[in-house]
Amino acid sequence: LDNGLALTPQMGFNNWNATHCGADFNEAMVKGIADLFVSSGLKDAGYEYVNLDDCWAEHDRDANGDLVPNRTRFPSGIRALADYVHSKGLKLGIYSSAGTMTCANTMPGALGHEEQDARSWASWGVDYLKYDNCNNQGVDAVQRYTKMRDALKATGRPILYSLCEWGSNKPWLWGKDVGDSWRTTGDISDSYGSMLSIVHQNMVLAQYAGPGHWNDPDMLEVGNGGMTDTEYRSHFSLWSIMAAPLLIGADLRKASATTMSILENREVIAVDQDKLGVQGAPISTEGGRDVFVKRLANGDRAVALFNEADSPQRIVTSASDIGLPAGAAYTVRDLWTHRTHETAGVIAATVPAHGTVMYRVAADRSWAKYPPAVDLGIGLP
Ligand code: DGJ
Repeated sequence: LDNGLALTPQMGFNNWNATHCGADFNEAMVKGIADLFVSSGLKDAGYEYVNLDDCWAEHDRDANGDLVPNRTRFPSGIRALADYVHSKGLKLGIYSSAGTMTCANTMPGALGHEEQDARSWASWGVDYLKYDNCNNQGVDAVQRYTKMRDALKATGRPILYSLCEWGSNKPWLWGKDVGDSWRTTGDISDSYGSMLSIVHQNMVLAQYAGPGHWNDPDMLEVGNGGMTDTEYRSHFSLWSIMAAPLLIGADLRKASATTMSILENREVIAVDQDKLGVQGAPISTEGGRDVFVKRLANGDRAVALFNEADSPQRIVTSASDIGLPAGAAYTVRDLWTHRTHETAGVIAATVPAHGTVMYRVAADRSWAKYPPAVDLGIGLP
């Protein structure tokens, strides 16, 4: 959507994967996440939006037909919450459904109330809307999502618009002029199988993505406990090489050091946030040995060697296969071990089951400015 937002994929947090509509979803949590964004360095790494999902409002509208923040979860209201989040230099996101009720059926959706609800959100200082698809009364999707686009625009406030239509009506074919991103699949769950199935659905849609119009394979599960750290590293690598929105879905107040180190990996984040705005795609998937490639603004290529299989495999590609010009040598930067090596052209690794080795490959010496970590004596493994 040409609203000047999401020129690179949006980054932030959303509570859904961690809490659903549980009691943990409340004012203290949202403020705690905003605090942690600042204190942990996530904000400096690029995470910006702190987003509320379903169940933030009361079941009924007030006498004027306005949405009412849930009195138990958000006793101070959404405007106060937005003020708090803004005071940290961050942005606040909210949620609704293009239907009569949201998916949890505990609060009203915005169908038929688009302008009124958009005005409420803008008046509270909301910066982002995730717009779901439940209870849609069979009204045409393009019509429903366009109505809200226009209502948001009419408020005059810049509000990032995230379509959550689950890919049902192929939003990649019409979403570019409607939203800043669109979900391409049903909901992720915290398992390797779910993550893998979403990768398979999202990876064939690369041609539709670009600045201001991203494919959204759903929010991150990194840190929620249902996958191994190796699988979570794959999850984060694949979302980044596919230029997906990076919305943390774990309660960071309880996150391990490993979870934080995955989410804070700036070299991987830089691949996701690359200004060229190309979604990386597989050039080969034979035998579950996936080679994803993403062209980057400075001419480098990001490469993800993802082993789908249940035992280790050697995955091999080459500088020419990933589209680099012929040359005598290439610099290969490992974005997880933070080490650099040279190659005459072969790009390969033995990759653990469900794991991903992620490289940034340069045709020239552009990585010379990042010497191997061992030379710096900072003691990385
Ligand atoms: C369905 C969406 O796809 C999820 O991400 C989440 O927002 C739930 N609805 C909330 O009910």
